[in-house]
Amino acid sequence: MAGPKKLFIKTYGCQMNVYDSERMSEALSTRGYEQTDAMDQADMILLNTCHIREKAAEKVYSELGRLRPLKDGNPDLKIGVAGCVAQAEGEEIVRRQPLVDFVVGPQSYDRLPAMLDQLDRGEIALETEFPVADKFDKLPARSRPSRGPSAFLTVQEGCDKFCAFCVVPYTRGAEFSRPTERVLGEARELVDRGVREITLLGQNVNAYRGHPGGLSGLIWELSEIDGLDRIRFTTSHPNDMDDALIDAHGTCEKLMPYLHLPVQSGSDQILKAMNRKHTAQGYIALIRRIRAARPDILLSGDFIVGFPGETDEDFEATMSLVRTVRYGQAYSFKYSARPGTPAAEKESVPDDISSERLQRLQALLTEQQRAIQDSMVGREVKVLFEKTGRLEGQLIGKSEYLHAVHADAPADNIGQIRTVRIVESVRNSLKGELVG
Ligand code: 5AD
Ligand code: SF4
Repeated sequence: MAGPKKLFIKTYGCQMNVYDSERMSEALSTRGYEQTDAMDQADMILLNTCHIREKAAEKVYSELGRLRPLKDGNPDLKIGVAGCVAQAEGEEIVRRQPLVDFVVGPQSYDRLPAMLDQLDRGEIALETEFPVADKFDKLPARSRPSRGPSAFLTVQEGCDKFCAFCVVPYTRGAEFSRPTERVLGEARELVDRGVREITLLGQNVNAYRGHPGGLSGLIWELSEIDGLDRIRFTTSHPNDMDDALIDAHGTCEKLMPYLHLPVQSGSDQILKAMNRKHTAQGYIALIRRIRAARPDILLSGDFIVGFPGETDEDFEATMSLVRTVRYGQAYSFKYSARPGTPAAEKESVPDDISSERLQRLQALLTEQQRAIQDSMVGREVKVLFEKTGRLEGQLIGKSEYLHAVHADAPADNIGQIRTVRIVESVRNSLKGELVG
């Protein structure tokens, strides 16, 4: 009898895709597929794509082109494209690249098993509709052991904000929140399997509406689960940081002191052109309120430089906002026009100017990030150990502030939260010693 069929998934982009890939793998396991790390041995290759920046679709086409020899060597190999490029390009993918057997948009993963039947009949399978339902509801309950004590859990998808540069409202569709009961059920199951930290995911997770109390209502319910020790969420829009959520940062012990709150620009004129619906001062005032609730919170942000119309003065306003806020973590990007978005119609800033701005901004953000990381030396933090390190006897985990920390510790500390004194700040992590 033939053994299990092998599934290779390549995941691009954000954590929502990482979560989706896990769930697709689970769905396909009900049909005899087992995940492999060896692409050349796969019976099915699935590219879970991201469309947020740069020439995403072109990259997918060239990746697909490279699969040609594998398909020639194994005509039964199934090749699928999932994720946001699948949503955006739809059947165009099959037209341009006949190697592809199926295309599945992010709202249609529950259709995967049925799509396999189509493939078995020798048909091409395409699913890129936006059904109004909980796609995860129809996927099998999470059935496999997690890989570590920290897990992602998608609670919200889609976005109604329509920032002028962003494809998400088009690729992931309107905001949809999973009902609290489902989220709690999945969280309990994860905890039963050893998970101690859950990061709630959503394109706009603080717009969660599955609970009458919004995201903080959900967080408080989750905090009642015994064995679940840490709750995080990402990613958020400033306008959805309501009082109750800010308050939870000060009062909910399980909610970790880390917040990713993208601002994109520090110039009111650019924020307006971006359709962000808030001002730079409004954002700074919000940060002050959050810090008043939780003084040690570590802030993270996203920035775009070179948005159409951005002048030197606008860019300096971004630099100034960064100096005021002080970020412990940040992601910054050069604007790239995404076809179909309103900003794509506008005249772009010359590339050499954008590149220079990006360099300056990144230098400032790196300096801040370093300073905050270095300031941890001498402090005691709580580390959730996740796995063994590269060196013998070493474990790696995350502090409350999401800093990677490594320390010498027996392997049975994996899955445990231990107090660690930080002794050194190295390039991308902190070195610590177990206390007690
Ligand atoms: N160009 C550059 N950066 C973008 N982002 C989203 N769309 C674009 C674009 N067209 C960035 C934003 C967002 C992050 C996920 O990606 O900063 O917060
Ligand atoms: Fe895109 Fe985020 Fe703006 Fe929504 S809020 S349109 S996901 S950048």
